[in-house]
Amino acid sequence: MSPICIFFWYPTNSLRRTLSRYGAGAGGTRNIAGNGALHLSLEDELASLHRKPAALVFSSCYVANDACLATLGSKLPGCVVFSDSMNHASMIQGIRHSNAKKVIFKHNDLADLEAKLQAVPKETPKIIAFESVYSMCGSVAPIEGICDLADKYGAITFLDEVHAVGMYGANGGGVAEHLDFEAHLATRESSEPVKRSVQDRIDIITGTLGKAFGVVGGYIAGSADLVDVVRSYAPGFIFTTSLPPAVVAGAQASIAYQREFMGDRRLQQINTREVKSQLDKLDIPVVPNPSHIIPVLVGDAALAKEASDMLLAKHKIYVQSINYPTVAVGEERLRITPTPGHSTEQIAHLVSSIDQVFNTLNLKRTPDWVALGGRAGVGMPIPVKVNPIWTDKHLGLDDGSAPVRLEGGKRSLVRKEAVKIAEKRLIHLLGSGPSVKDIPTMVAAAA
Ligand SMILES: Cc1ncc(COP(=O)(O)O)c(C=O)c1O
Repeated sequence: MSPICIFFWYPTNSLRRTLSRYGAGAGGTRNIAGNGALHLSLEDELASLHRKPAALVFSSCYVANDACLATLGSKLPGCVVFSDSMNHASMIQGIRHSNAKKVIFKHNDLADLEAKLQAVPKETPKIIAFESVYSMCGSVAPIEGICDLADKYGAITFLDEVHAVGMYGANGGGVAEHLDFEAHLATRESSEPVKRSVQDRIDIITGTLGKAFGVVGGYIAGSADLVDVVRSYAPGFIFTTSLPPAVVAGAQASIAYQREFMGDRRLQQINTREVKSQLDKLDIPVVPNPSHIIPVLVGDAALAKEASDMLLAKHKIYVQSINYPTVAVGEERLRITPTPGHSTEQIAHLVSSIDQVFNTLNLKRTPDWVALGGRAGVGMPIPVKVNPIWTDKHLGLDDGSAPVRLEGGKRSLVRKEAVKIAEKRLIHLLGSGPSVKDIPTMVAAAA
C-alpha cells in the first residue's frame, strides 16, 4: 500500500461503507431529493471546525467561491469588492458574476489596501476577498492586519483557506485558526468561537474538501444569515445535483479525523523544513515563504519545463513547472509540496535529483541570483526574514513530542484514538465502524 493509501485509510473505509448503504448518487439537487442527513452532518462538522454558526457545501470550492462572491456582491447594493492581485480564478469569476465594482490591491500589501479602502465612502458595502496561503509562491496573507482594516472601514472579510484547511491550526481549521494556536488547542472540544480571535473576526471562510481532506467538494462557513442568503440565491448551490453520499461521509470522516490528530500536519511541516534546508545547503534557490509550499526558482519558461520533464523522465519524480501567466515572466519555477507520507529516502532522492537537473541544465543557483540583484525574493540585497507559521513549539520540537519522519519502509501512522472519536460522529448514519483490531498497525509516532 502506498503512503497516500494508508494516509487516507480511514476516510476511504467510511466511503466504502456509505456506498454500500446509500448507493452511488445523491438523487437530485439539495432542494429536491438530494438533501441527505449526511450532507447536514458534514455542514455541522464544517461549521464546528471553523467555529461558525453555519456552513454550506458545494460541488467544489471553485463553485463555492464563485457562488458566494457573485451572490453577496450582487445582493449588497453598490457593493465594492477589494481583491488581492494574486487571488484564485474562482474568486475573480465570482466577483465578475456579481457585477459589483472590483478594486484590485497589491498582493498582501496593507498600505495599498488601506489607500484603496479610504477612497470609497464608509457607508458603501465592501468585501475584502483574499486567500490565506497563496499556492504559487507560498506567501501567507497578513490576515490580522486585513481584519483591522475591515473593522476600520466597515468591510466584510472573505477568506479562501483552500491551501490551509487540514494543514494549519490545532484543529486543522486553517491559518486564521493557527494564528491563535494555543487558545484553539486549549478549547478544542468546543465549537464556540474564541472571542476576538483572528478566525472569529473573519466573516466568511471558504475551503476545499479536495486537497488535505482528500475527497472532493467545497464549502463556505460564516454567520447563519450570510450562509442563508447564499443558500437561497446562489444558482451554483441550487441548480445542481448534490455531492454523492459516500463522498460526503468520506469528507466528514477525514475532517473529523484531522481535527483529532495533529500528526499529519505536523509531519508535513517537518518534511517541508527538511526539504527547504537540504535545498538551501546546495544553493538551490527557493522563493522564501512561511508555508508548506516550496517554489524552486528557475527564472526561464523553457528551462522550467525542461527541468520538470527531466525530473519525470530521468528521476521518476513529478514536479510541475509554473510559468506565465500564473507567475511573472522571469519568475518561472518548479513547485514542490511535501506531504506527511514522504519518507526520508524519498526526500533525499528528490533533493539529489534536483541538484543533478540544476547541473545538467546549468540553472542559476542562489549566488547567481545574488549577483543579479535578486529575483522573486531570492538573493535580494536585503534578505527578508521569514518565520514558518508552524513554530518549533507547535511542531513539538521543543518537548520531543514531534512526529517521527518515515524511513526504512515504515508506513504512515493512523491514530486509532482519532479514528474512534471520528467514528462516533457518523455512527447514527453509518452504524458501527471498523473495530480497533481492523485498523492497520502503523508506525508508532507522537502526534
Ligand atoms: C486558492 C484556490 N481556491 C479555490 C480553488 C478551487 O478549489 P476546488 O478544487 O475545490 O474547486 C483552488 C483550486 O486549486 C485554489 O487554489
